[in-house]
Amino acid sequence: MRITVIGTGYLGAVHAACMADLGHEVLGVDVDWTKIDALSAGRPPFHEPGLDQVLARTVESGRLRFGTSLQEAAEFGDVHFVCVGTPQKAGSNAADLRHVEAAVGGLAPHLTRPALVVGKSTVPVGTAAGLAAVLRDAGSPAELAWNPEFLREGFAVNDTLHPDRLVVGVTSTGAEEILREVYAPILDSGDTPWISTDLATAELVKVSANAFLATKISFINAIADVCDAAGADVTTLATAIGHDARIGSRFLSAGLGFGGGCLPKDIRAFMARAGELGVPDALAFLREVDEINMGRRRRTVELARGLVGGSFLGRSVAVLGAAFKPDSDDVRDSPALNVAATIQLQGGQVRVHDPVAMDNARAQFPTLDYAPDIRKACEHADVVLHLTEWRDYVELDPEWLGSLVGARRMVDGRNVLPLPAWRAAGWDVRSLGRSAPA
Ligand code: UDX
Repeated sequence: MRITVIGTGYLGAVHAACMADLGHEVLGVDVDWTKIDALSAGRPPFHEPGLDQVLARTVESGRLRFGTSLQEAAEFGDVHFVCVGTPQKAGSNAADLRHVEAAVGGLAPHLTRPALVVGKSTVPVGTAAGLAAVLRDAGSPAELAWNPEFLREGFAVNDTLHPDRLVVGVTSTGAEEILREVYAPILDSGDTPWISTDLATAELVKVSANAFLATKISFINAIADVCDAAGADVTTLATAIGHDARIGSRFLSAGLGFGGGCLPKDIRAFMARAGELGVPDALAFLREVDEINMGRRRRTVELARGLVGGSFLGRSVAVLGAAFKPDSDDVRDSPALNVAATIQLQGGQVRVHDPVAMDNARAQFPTLDYAPDIRKACEHADVVLHLTEWRDYVELDPEWLGSLVGARRMVDGRNVLPLPAWRAAGWDVRSLGRSAPA
């Protein structure tokens, strides 16, 4: 099929490459020439494991190319996936839909033959119906569908080629047939559940899934505080409750909490939309979920400050991790960088290290000091904060690191360091949820 993908960020670049890998002819469109140039050369403009190979082979095959023209996209494609960003609106909790509106509004006048416009971006419920009206008002015969994306950064290629479900919101059987054809190679090769529904339900599936995941993380983080007060260990507790299949063990890692370009802004936009729909109380609990999550960052700063004697002034602080999670270079709403910047504002001399997110971190927080390697970050540090659980950090030798630092003090913000080994090496380790001495 001839497919276009509008927006080539973390979602769109992966979707475009994977659709071409499934055998479709794909044109990716973006307004950013830097991205288009990199992608056209087969280079991902961000860190995503495995994307480089898929991109290289699909660009090389001629099935995938990139450009900037929506008119060209409209002329080329039969199916148009809208994958642009929906960030949090400045000064509000709501989603900023400017890019989605620009994409569909820009395509509409050029869609002069039947086509299917498929939204993948995460949007407030009701957006799809509004966009369908934009197509109608432009006199276009194109139809609108919604097909939310559940991919996780760091696993995006696998999540796209082997999704755990495909959800489509459609208003006609013809639209569903087209989407079945797009995903035929995935549907044929396995038992991927196919859920066909209306536009509003499809939109809501996505935000509800993210709200549930955020709630699960904040639940275990709330329990972590009780564990600290009672001298219990939240990681053992999470393992134990996770054996109950009704609960499940995933997304029960307590620590510094969630960040990134999705969960924080999606739960806020969901609350804002519920308010607009006249049911603000229905999602009032999400405010608490958000509150617990933001409190993790404050608590981490407090733990570090306590370890260095109550003030960061004149103290050297090493921060390991800048990305919002490992295997990603994404620093949007990164808890690690939030903590690093707060400590710097409180007078600490902060040195940050991350295996891949340094350039993005520097662009967002230029006044922080960035160390080229773990050694330089930690030399003579009064305290080390482990804030993003990259494998390099989890596997650190406590003796080796201990020989570099000024004092063996550690905040394990992700609860993954093997505590007995670190304590045996003389480290004073604090964490959120397992602070009781071993
Ligand atoms: C998320 C959803 O998982 C995905 O389905 C959706 O499409 C987009 O949003 P992503 O933002 O890539 O994906 O990250 P995810 O792996 O969900 O992690 C989000 C944040 O939660 C990270 O900061 C991570 O460190 C944190 N997290 C995750 C925890 O603190 N504890 C956990 O148990 C799991």
